[in-house]
Amino acid sequence: MPLRADWLSRVLTVPYLPVLGPVHPDLCTPEMFIEVFAKVLTASRAGVALPFDKDRRWSPVKRDMVLVDEIVHRPGTTIIPVLTPRRGGTVKTYFYGDSPDLNALQAATRRCCTTYGAAHGRVISFSTNPTRQANHTRVHLKEFRPAPSAATGPAVIPLDDCAPEVTTTFAEFAAAMADHGFDSLRQRRDAGHRDGPILVTQAADRVIGAIGPLTVMPDQPGRRMLLPQYFAVLPEHRGQGHGRALWRAVERWGAERRADYQLVQAQAGGASDQLFRSEGLRSLGYASTLPA
Ligand SMILES: CC(C)(COP(=O)(O)OP(=O)(O)OC[C@H]1O[C@@H](n2cnc3c(N)ncnc32)[C@H](O)[C@@H]1OP(=O)(O)O)[C@@H](O)C(=O)NCCC(=O)NCCS
Repeated sequence: MPLRADWLSRVLTVPYLPVLGPVHPDLCTPEMFIEVFAKVLTASRAGVALPFDKDRRWSPVKRDMVLVDEIVHRPGTTIIPVLTPRRGGTVKTYFYGDSPDLNALQAATRRCCTTYGAAHGRVISFSTNPTRQANHTRVHLKEFRPAPSAATGPAVIPLDDCAPEVTTTFAEFAAAMADHGFDSLRQRRDAGHRDGPILVTQAADRVIGAIGPLTVMPDQPGRRMLLPQYFAVLPEHRGQGHGRALWRAVERWGAERRADYQLVQAQAGGASDQLFRSEGLRSLGYASTLPA
């Protein structure tokens, strides 16, 4: 079913595409949405990640399948379900429109789960203010300037430049911060993947905070986007400036490598959300996820 720009123009409140996730606001005009979504469909049929898909850094293969037969597209409402085969399969239903009927969307998502053999379902909806009962993440845009903010707080250095006795403690840090993605990053590193620098802060010769991997990739029109990183500080060291120091080091790293921008998602109202706001990132709105 061809998508219509006039119908999309009423519902694209947050720049976020099925399969790709957050995109630069310039790429989320109705016309660009239609153009990029057509590429998403082609890549989905071929089982590959688009050249500008941030997941390409992990693998060129991508098995997310847009459930074309289940798309709903009418004035005021666009609903696009996507099947992700990992971990027993998940149907993610992307809802664009005002006042979603969440119960109906959850029921439709469960029906898709049954039809396509997926174990899990989620409804993802968008808004410019977080009023709904769901898990809200705020999408932030960082545009890099030639002169980033000054360094602050504890010293930040690349993990690869740490003394060997400090580098070895990264495994311990990664295990403790497994919920924030660091253990899978550590496993990739141990397997020889070099996904980009990981910046760390230390205390008593141990890694206690980290952000990475740092990778720049061209977006659809060729602007340089810094990809989102894993970011965490050990709980017992939080509130002492390590997080801000790590983020500012990323700002400098991005500016030095002429990155144009970065998109990050943070739990609305959480520590990283507050940190990004206080660092001047632009809020692009909210994505809310509800299990089906
Ligand atoms: C986000 C995180 C890395 C911040 O690390 P940190 O070392 O505690 O951060 P800092 O001490 O530098 O604090 C910087 C700012 O973050 C915000 N912040 C930190 N802790 C906060 C909290 N508990 N509640 C609200 N805001 C908080 C504040 O704006 C703070 O600035 P302030 O001290 O001037 O008020 C840390 O909380 C963490 O590891 N959280 C779990 C993982 C995570 O959420 N990662 C982000 C993924 S996007």
